[in-house]
Amino acid sequence: MAARAATDETEVDWQHWLQRWDAQQAGYVPEREERFRVMFDVLEALLPDDFVALDLACGPGAISQRLLDRFLRARCVAIDFDPVMLALGQGALGTYDGRLRWIDADLAEPGWVKSAGEAAVDAALSTTALHWLDAPELVEVYRELGALIRPGGVFLNGDNMDFGPDLPTVQRFVSDARDRAWSDESFAARGVETAEQWWEALEREPAVAPLIAERARRLAAKQRPASPTFDLHVGALHSAGFREVATIWQSGTDRVLLAVR
Ligand SMILES: C[S@@+](CC[C@H](N)C(=O)[O-])C[C@H]1O[C@@H](n2cnc3c(N)ncnc32)[C@H](O)[C@@H]1O
Repeated sequence: MAARAATDETEVDWQHWLQRWDAQQAGYVPEREERFRVMFDVLEALLPDDFVALDLACGPGAISQRLLDRFLRARCVAIDFDPVMLALGQGALGTYDGRLRWIDADLAEPGWVKSAGEAAVDAALSTTALHWLDAPELVEVYRELGALIRPGGVFLNGDNMDFGPDLPTVQRFVSDARDRAWSDESFAARGVETAEQWWEALEREPAVAPLIAERARRLAAKQRPASPTFDLHVGALHSAGFREVATIWQSGTDRVLLAVR
């Protein structure tokens, strides 16, 4: 791994913040590392070892880091619109000797594919992120991925995808359990920091203030949408030209969805 020290954001210990990020994210998804492994097992089975992958809504590059550690001939393009996340990822992970490129782009806006700078890719992956897109935005992202991922390539999404309105009892049972597990009381009992506490702590780093301000400016234009259901994901992927779409791992509403182009 080609780690480098932070430069502009003077002396921020990005490794420390990345470790704390991973710890709080695992508080929400205890099987997080297994979920990554399942996704990467697909890449190993279906792709050549010098594949190119997109890490969509990458945050600090959780997918890219693990993928590039496991697949030594692969390349990744990590895309996010949050300047804090991009600074954290770049500060903690660097470029993996040129195998990792970081792109500041909003998946909900036209032009992110052009910004990614790849004519075609073998794979696109995302974790704990695409629920931030509303249904029309998600459908459009999938349409663009259908054009960008080469035939035989794959899309993998690890995220919460709710059951549809035809399964209200199932959805209520699973989401009630999720709400309990994600409560502040549950995090406190487990001795794990919540995402809110992580952000509050990072905001106390004076050197990160300009990035936090820019993040707030960008997020002000966003609203948290009603997340598209699992059925919508499947239908939109089929419409985008993916020929096989299936859940290959699941824990409650948290699934790994595999789509083969
Ligand atoms: C909970 S984090 C997950 C990050 C990482 N994939 C992981 O598993 O640790 C969600 C990420 O989605 C990003 N995101 C949300 N909406 C986005 C959009 N429209 N375009 C790009 N990134 C977006 C956020 O900035 C954030 O970094």
